[in-house]
Amino acid sequence: MQLSAILTIASLCFGFCSSLREGQTCIADRYCDSGLHCETCIANGNVRPRCTRIQPLNPISKVKGLPFNRYSWLTTHNSFARLGERSATGSLILAPTNQQDSITSQLNNGVRGLMLDVYDFLNDVWLCHSFGGQCFNYTAFQPAINVLKEVRVFLEANPLEIVTIIIEDYVTSPRGLSKVFDAAGLRKFWFPVSRMPKNGENWPTVDDMVQKNQRLVVFTSKSAKEASEGIAYQWRYMVENQYGDGGMVAGSCPNRAESPVMNTKSRSLVLVNYFPDRPDITQACKHNSAPLISMAKTCYTGAGNRWPNFIAVDFYKRSDSGGAPEAVDVVNGNLVCGCGNIAKCKANMTFGVCDIPEAGVVPEQGSVAHKSSFAYLDSRPISSWLLFGIILATILLQM
Ligand SMILES: *[C@@H]1O[C@H](CO)[C@@H](O)[C@H](O)[C@H]1NC(C)=O
Ligand SMILES: *[C@@H]1O[C@H](CO)[C@@H](O)[C@H](O)[C@H]1NC(C)=O
Repeated sequence: MQLSAILTIASLCFGFCSSLREGQTCIADRYCDSGLHCETCIANGNVRPRCTRIQPLNPISKVKGLPFNRYSWLTTHNSFARLGERSATGSLILAPTNQQDSITSQLNNGVRGLMLDVYDFLNDVWLCHSFGGQCFNYTAFQPAINVLKEVRVFLEANPLEIVTIIIEDYVTSPRGLSKVFDAAGLRKFWFPVSRMPKNGENWPTVDDMVQKNQRLVVFTSKSAKEASEGIAYQWRYMVENQYGDGGMVAGSCPNRAESPVMNTKSRSLVLVNYFPDRPDITQACKHNSAPLISMAKTCYTGAGNRWPNFIAVDFYKRSDSGGAPEAVDVVNGNLVCGCGNIAKCKANMTFGVCDIPEAGVVPEQGSVAHKSSFAYLDSRPISSWLLFGIILATILLQM
């Protein structure tokens, strides 16, 4: 065959192969559809790399105008603790890491909840892990302002989006947190504590929050800062299940110690953590798959038939198929329109009247299928053989 013919076929393949769908065999991220990336999940026995989902559907783009607490948001645990990052002090980092990409990348992938651990350090406020409540050079990632500026840039560029920051707060310097939010230019987006429902009522609608430009919701773990700095004390507004290994026992959804019990209806928001004590990138794909959706359902029951508004995981991009983004899609389907996936929700539809599946949406079998609502698994063999055939041909040609 002519070189040109091969190149033509190869280029056709790149066009074709760049649209591999969820579950299809792949060799690199760029061959997968948008919203997907290419990876294995050895922990689940998936040794063949496949296109897996890294972005949830944007629930506001499907159905606008509901109260904030009628949506669910993909949330990253220790969003700042990025794998392979060097400390901004110049030190190597010896602390565990929980995510693979930057805050900007997370936000662009649809993450809307950021969990940040903040400390006084080097005369500033830093994102850090601690040993005995102390931040050290080798556990300090970077000054909080860097990441908060990334949030500001995102909010400015995306005027319809709302971001929630949940702070594990070790800052004791006077108004230390307020100062860093101000310095990052985030004050103008601040959702005021006075507008947060105090007794289980609905939140303002997302439209209202967007219109008023109150698109940054911030919670602190320090109760006193609500009065002193106007930063909402998290568990006055939210119930939260146990984090770490204690929160990963199938069929049980206990509250974390600081939170009221899960079915406390005077708290309008529900947060579900699902990650182990020790972050583990190899196991994360397994944790973020079927067991996560299963825990979301367990916590739905535990929280008095309320779906989680925040689903917090480590390594949010890791899964064996739909992962944490799909868990969020499933929960949003239930919250927003009473159907098993946000993909089925439409503007102005009657709650719970789920329509006939559209092209590309596989009907649910039984309850919410964990596998995928976006499955195109059947076309996999043809495209992967074609892909490998052409790659082989290209390689042989070059020998
Ligand atoms: C920690 O990092 C800072 C900033 O780079 C440096 O000034 C300081 O000497 C470091 N401390 C130790 C104990 O290495
Ligand atoms: C939904 O209802 C609103 C208010 O009645 C209307 O303005 C809007 O056009 C409707 N949207 C669709 C997609 O039907």
